[in-house]
Amino acid sequence: MKISVIGAGSTYTPELVEGLLAERDSIPLTRLSLMDVDGERLGVLAGLVERMVAAAGWRFQVDCHTELGAAVDGADFVITQIRVGGQQARHDDTALALKHGVIGQETTGVAGFAKALRTIPVLLGVCQEMRRSAPGATLVNFTNPAGIVTEALLKHGGVPSLGLCNIPVGIQMATARRYGVPPSQVALDYLGLNHFSWLRRVVVAGRDVTEESLAEVLAKAPANVPALEYDREFVEALGMIPSGYLRYFYLQHESLEHLRSKDRTRAQEVMEIDATLLEKYRDPGLSEKPVELEKRGGAFYSTAAVSLIRSIVTGDGARHVVNVENGSSLPDLPADSAVEVPAVVDAGGAQPLAMGRLETPIRGWLQLLKSYEILTVEAAVEKSYRKALLALSCNPLVPSVNKARALLDALDERHGLGLRR
Ligand code: G6P
Repeated sequence: MKISVIGAGSTYTPELVEGLLAERDSIPLTRLSLMDVDGERLGVLAGLVERMVAAAGWRFQVDCHTELGAAVDGADFVITQIRVGGQQARHDDTALALKHGVIGQETTGVAGFAKALRTIPVLLGVCQEMRRSAPGATLVNFTNPAGIVTEALLKHGGVPSLGLCNIPVGIQMATARRYGVPPSQVALDYLGLNHFSWLRRVVVAGRDVTEESLAEVLAKAPANVPALEYDREFVEALGMIPSGYLRYFYLQHESLEHLRSKDRTRAQEVMEIDATLLEKYRDPGLSEKPVELEKRGGAFYSTAAVSLIRSIVTGDGARHVVNVENGSSLPDLPADSAVEVPAVVDAGGAQPLAMGRLETPIRGWLQLLKSYEILTVEAAVEKSYRKALLALSCNPLVPSVNKARALLDALDERHGLGLRR
């Protein structure tokens, strides 16, 4: 079996490899192809990966590529984890948004919008290559904004695609640890869009523990989200646990104040963490994932990827929260759109569970954000300035169409997005 990792120069790659090594009994990997456009970074990462594989006493071939074709050729799974423009573009977009008094945020905010416009054409290029040289392979995407990217892959990729996020699996693992059960005994009644989701129920070994989980799950904001407290009475009235990322929407004003009060953007923090990590990775004596990687927000992402691949390979029918084509899972959202819900995964792919009608307090939010995502994909694919403007008009983090236009013009100038009037 061949797995290709596109964007393997990411400092997250050792996390993924650690997961693959842990699954040696169920994933019969013979070849791991690492691809990155940055050959220097790729060399550093590949060195560490080879040492990790050797230390684990497992032999599979590791090869490196700076071109897509050879990397994807004959693959069974292609994992995409790219960052077009690097952390510098993330910083520029976030800082630009803040200058206009708007939350940037690299997934649900304007920085995510800009990232989507830069990223979608590149990922559709990966799909084109897969159709040519790896027919039948499954694409597993981590690239942010993962929800919008999955929407684009489903509608325009022409290859089987699933989008993943580390947040649901993180909640599942933490809950399993708290109750001393295997993660497979934890079922999350989880619904929405990527980074725009709610947890209706948490069930451990058949027992509903939602009430008890509330405080714990609420208190834990992801590493890169302002740790602002949700209003307890509001959450009780809602009767569901909002995603950590919903702070940007439910606490928009406070989040903006918080981001303004910081002297560095998250991208600048990550640049520093990354520099330290790369230095460590260069050490020929290092043959395991260093603990400093936990400072990044993507903990457990390998668990999500590797357990998903295991389910497809073994056909075990396990339940995973994935970004997948909606079908009839959430009847209040378009059937052909991407949603983030639990799905049963086997050799045939992911079948989303029926999650039913959306509750009144979240229905409008989800429909609006879904319109934003659909229009963002259309803007990226059609290179349409007007669609881009309409997309931003549907994002509640952009409070004025005039600001949307100013931001759009500045982003177009910065990245040469090539939007047509
Ligand atoms: C969380 C999110 C990911 C995101 C990551 C950012 O894990 O689920 O989508 O990529 O945080 O982490 P970073 O360390 O880059 O801020």
